[in-house]
Amino acid sequence: MLDIKIEKTTNPKPIPGPEDPLVFGTIFTDHMYVMEYCPEKGWHDPAIMPYQPISLAPSAMVFHYGQEMFEGLKAYKTEDGRILLFRPDKNAERANNSNRRLMIPEIDPEDFINAVKTIVEVDQAWIPTKPGTSLYVRPFVIATDPFLGVRPSNTYKFIIILSPVGAYYPEGLNPVKIWIEDKYVRAVRGGIGEAKTGGNYVASLAAQIKAHDEGYSQVLWLDGVERKYIEEVGAMNIFFKINGTVVTPVLNGSILPGVTRDTCIALCKEWGLPVEERRVSVEELEAAAKDGSLEEVWGTGTAAVISPVGHLRYEDDVFQIGDGGIGQISQKLYDTVTGIQLGKVEDKYGWTVEV
Ligand code: COI
Repeated sequence: MLDIKIEKTTNPKPIPGPEDPLVFGTIFTDHMYVMEYCPEKGWHDPAIMPYQPISLAPSAMVFHYGQEMFEGLKAYKTEDGRILLFRPDKNAERANNSNRRLMIPEIDPEDFINAVKTIVEVDQAWIPTKPGTSLYVRPFVIATDPFLGVRPSNTYKFIIILSPVGAYYPEGLNPVKIWIEDKYVRAVRGGIGEAKTGGNYVASLAAQIKAHDEGYSQVLWLDGVERKYIEEVGAMNIFFKINGTVVTPVLNGSILPGVTRDTCIALCKEWGLPVEERRVSVEELEAAAKDGSLEEVWGTGTAAVISPVGHLRYEDDVFQIGDGGIGQISQKLYDTVTGIQLGKVEDKYGWTVEV
């Protein structure tokens, strides 16, 4: 494992207090982690330094062809003062799956996890403790060769920044309204849908703005081939409870394999609920919503945690789910997942890692 050089800031910023609003992704801590890659040395010289702008050539390849990968995980402080990360091994693994698809050199998972632990330890005073808050950890890699031709870059930077956050959606745990998109698609078979990379998110913006203008929080994507099967929401995976069975779209290469998705599947199975990972068509959903068998809908994501869905809209049809409030399973998942993350609920699976 590589040694990380640490240079602490001499000019610390004020840390938000419990009364300050933590609007998601707007506040950054005092430090950042940076590691460089070049073909001669591989990944080398990891360092933690004061949070600061980075200097790149305008020709840096990330600006032109979007060769970049990012991750997201969270750190929590328990009531007895321990610092916990939730399943960082899954992020390290997914980072390398994305790296391989994007022709970015893989990062040793031990270095990835050690980097996250070390930067979180350095900025631990920034971990908020109010219910519903956490320290969001954003690792990312960018291609830095100054070059305008299309090929993989030879040089990269792996950076980690930290942001104290509250709920991702302003609605908090109140159900969000979701727009099932019938014109644009997010990802296609054989594309980069299962990699965590900026290109998938920029592809979502036009539909997201359209949905926002209509009063919807997020877009639910249909498959890019037949535009018939449900894939995922802009910042979450999606789950349905249909006739007592928990159903989520099967990972098909164009859906992001969410860590919270995996966590929810394991918990639902543990609770004895039938769980099906399979294709779900929009027609099936419409029919289930009409005959009352669509009992609950929720999204899962690191940023969003568990986000109940109260309304779905597809073309001219609008469906209210249940009574429009949070469902029983969504509430139980939220309480259990956040309980494990905060060290309040027994961690039977060894998902939490102490810093
Ligand atoms: C996360 O849930 O961590 C994500 O990366 C989603 C992002 C769009 C906020």
